[in-house]
Amino acid sequence: MEQYVIKGGNPLVGEVEIGGAKNAALAILSAAVMADETITIENVPNVRDVNVLLNAIQEIGAMVERPDAHTVKINGSFIRDMNVDNEYIRKIRASYYLIGALLGKYKRAEVALPGGCDIGSRPIDLHIKGFKALGAAVDIRHGLVRASADRLRGTHIYLDKSSVGASINIMMAAAMAEGKTIIENAAKEPHVVDVANFLNSMGANIRGAGTDVIRIVGVERLHKTEYSIIPDQIEAGTFMLAAAATKGDITVRNVIPKHLEATSAKLLEVGCEVEEFDDAVRVVASRRLHHTQVTTLPYPGFPTDMQPQMAVVLGISEGTSTVTESIFENRFKYVDELTRMGASIKVEGNIAIITGVEQLTGARLNALDLRAGAALVIAALAAEGISVVDDIYYIERGYEEFEKKLSSLGAMIEKVSTEKEIQKFSLKVS
Ligand code: UD1
Repeated sequence: MEQYVIKGGNPLVGEVEIGGAKNAALAILSAAVMADETITIENVPNVRDVNVLLNAIQEIGAMVERPDAHTVKINGSFIRDMNVDNEYIRKIRASYYLIGALLGKYKRAEVALPGGCDIGSRPIDLHIKGFKALGAAVDIRHGLVRASADRLRGTHIYLDKSSVGASINIMMAAAMAEGKTIIENAAKEPHVVDVANFLNSMGANIRGAGTDVIRIVGVERLHKTEYSIIPDQIEAGTFMLAAAATKGDITVRNVIPKHLEATSAKLLEVGCEVEEFDDAVRVVASRRLHHTQVTTLPYPGFPTDMQPQMAVVLGISEGTSTVTESIFENRFKYVDELTRMGASIKVEGNIAIITGVEQLTGARLNALDLRAGAALVIAALAAEGISVVDDIYYIERGYEEFEKKLSSLGAMIEKVSTEKEIQKFSLKVS
């Protein structure tokens, strides 16, 4: 099992290039199977979840080529199997996008029920409600979601919650349904817009993505395209918060600053300097930061995927802060790990009450999930002494070359897999 070993205390300084958005990529790669021509997708992040999905797409017969680490070519004309199931795909949440894509194209799909990070109950009832409204029969048996229809017909769907996954999934199926579909209370996240733009570049007719009403007029077929995925707002935000936590000075490059506004606003509030450029944002933290209140909300609110990283920053800022998690019910599990580093955090229901401490201290930590794992790395970088983060498998699901990017900013971090290597690192840095 690989681990990160980290010696904290260095301010992170420099520039870092942000990759393509993982969550957009997972949906776009799934949607790519809907054409019978070759689709070229650029700025694909080379992370574990993407690779698992690409394997599954290849297993059902699609042609998948990778001319370089960040470019993928997919041709869905060779698909012969509508059953997506293997031990890896069951672990990733975004496997559900193959239901919408295959159902839209072939009117039939059978996909292992999604897993993903354990951050609370993660139902897919809204996805299913949407497929049923389009005319599909859907059932769940033996861990598989099975959806089928003679024909899909456009319809009017109201989402009880503005779910990112359900909005995208229904949009994909509706793109090849007969007639007009309207999705109300749709999610407005940047990757919903990116998937709509991608589908439109394949010949779909989707309007309104980025607002809470998406209108789709189904088309009979989708065609080839070349498309570049938007930058990852969560990867960018993670580095911005790493600058804040380590009293550093980091410029994140290849980003869309507008997508980072919620994070930038909170950083300004706690006392960072934030400078926006056309496609970069610089965060400077020159003194101890102060407390604030944060509530996670759907876009353009503060993203739930940045919540653990923000809690780390507040954990070492002056005064008492609160973090309210309003999207997922069990997203504070990492708090116990931070407590072992000396943080003072009390969780009451969906609110974490954080009393900032002067200094965290290094400890042996468990990554627990993707974003919590990244948050613990930030905590370790800010802490005094050495930390070991176990189960970095989770972090690699969504961050490409995380330790290399951090090292280039001056972090003392290494990926290791034995106690001996940990000892060697400790000797080297002491
Ligand atoms: C996606 C992201 C995840 C991010 C989340 C919120 C991917 C692969 N994952 O997850 O990183 O944290 O958006 O920005 O893109 N819900 C239902 N029924 C459903 C679907 C969702 O009740 O059928 C609820 C969820 O429990 C949650 C809320 O809706 O409370 C939002 O979830 P959703 O936006 O669907 O998250 P995901 O698409 O799973």
